[in-house]
Amino acid sequence: MHEMEALQSRCLQCQNCRLASTRTKVVFGVGVVPSDIVFVGEGPGQQEDLQGEPFVGAAGKLLDEMLSIIDLGRHNCYIANIVKCRPPQNRDPMPDEQDACIGFLNEQLAILKPKIIVCLGRIAAMRLIKEDFRITREHGQWFSKDGVEYTAIYHPSALLRDVSKRPETFTDLLSLRARARSLGCQPK
Ligand code: URA
Repeated sequence: MHEMEALQSRCLQCQNCRLASTRTKVVFGVGVVPSDIVFVGEGPGQQEDLQGEPFVGAAGKLLDEMLSIIDLGRHNCYIANIVKCRPPQNRDPMPDEQDACIGFLNEQLAILKPKIIVCLGRIAAMRLIKEDFRITREHGQWFSKDGVEYTAIYHPSALLRDVSKRPETFTDLLSLRARARSLGCQPK
């Protein structure tokens, strides 16, 4: 079995935190393996919980549109979340839930070997870039850690609530495309 499939089947059995008791489906991740560019959200919402795939609800539709602007999509990158099970009422995942789950993301990243990790929103950026990450001030900035380039953009749900943030996100997406090209991530 492929390493990622083996990891996924372990993840689907997970009972490591309280979210296991309220989930419908584990939302492991989707995309190509390995992948130069990985997007990380915070955790599944209602549609994701029902379908078992990340970013398939309203925010996901917007994410797909955002990615297509820079020639990205589920066919040429990878999309995952900090926690793999839906927090009830879409609350933020609690620190102990993130701690219980982050090992799966770390194992995914070890298999994917990305050059670029894009955090979708504040929760992922605080977990993967730095604890005191401020999304309003620091979105679109680049951070190097262990040979990987990290950035964060506004979460698509935030862009649905507040369209005034969209022009800044467009700039961030162009910056992502430029960085991806300079690192040789994209043949196109
Ligand atoms: N929001 C997230 O952060 N992740 C999903 O998979 C869906 C919505």
